[in-house]
Amino acid sequence: MNSKQQAGMAAANLVQNGMGVGLGTGSTVFFALERLAERQKTENLKFFGVSTSFSTTLLCRKMGIELKDCGAVSHLDLAIDGADEIDPNLNLIKGRGAAHLLEKIVASLAGKFIVVADSSKKVKNLGEKFPVPLEILPSALGLAEAKIKGLGGVLEVRMAGASKDGPVISDSGNIIADAKFGLIKEPEILCKELDCIPGLAGHGLFVNLAKEAFIAGEAGVEHISL
Ligand code: 5RP
Repeated sequence: MNSKQQAGMAAANLVQNGMGVGLGTGSTVFFALERLAERQKTENLKFFGVSTSFSTTLLCRKMGIELKDCGAVSHLDLAIDGADEIDPNLNLIKGRGAAHLLEKIVASLAGKFIVVADSSKKVKNLGEKFPVPLEILPSALGLAEAKIKGLGGVLEVRMAGASKDGPVISDSGNIIADAKFGLIKEPEILCKELDCIPGLAGHGLFVNLAKEAFIAGEAGVEHISL
């Protein structure tokens, strides 16, 4: 069993009958979904999920996991999601898969937000390996570029590559970009600054949201609870 599978399964084992569960996006969450689908069959586990992306919605349909619309829900018992970087306080960079806007809404709905990852995602300071993903209303692209520059960052629109000409467009129809800030020593401050940019629909800095994590490596699964 690989590390992502161990981490995803550990979090899926926390789901109990009757829960509403936020279902993140990515290759680690895939294993949580697989385990939840298995528990539905073997233990008759009953729960509903709220999906964070078209990608996860398609997987849930295939696996027979019942979903509710995010906008129809005001509270979830827990949410399970991956991360691109994790600092010692469980602050995160998310959004490699361009799902960070909905992922943050779903994480904020949850009583407990649980991160699942392999140990390669651990960093001392956010920004070590990944830029901060952004989701920008098309009409606010110029403003966002200027504001990010004012914060000492460099914004680059994320291009779709071979599958589409032009930028990556989010599930909500906005432009995905990435902002490089170098090492982020004060994530709370940067997070608040980004929250204030008009037309910036979302960003991938998740500060003070995760309180628990399953991080798997060669030595097994590390369970962190703040
Ligand atoms: C998608 C995300 C993912 O959760 C993050 O990129 C981790 O993905 P993976 O588990 O595949 O490494 O933020 O927007």
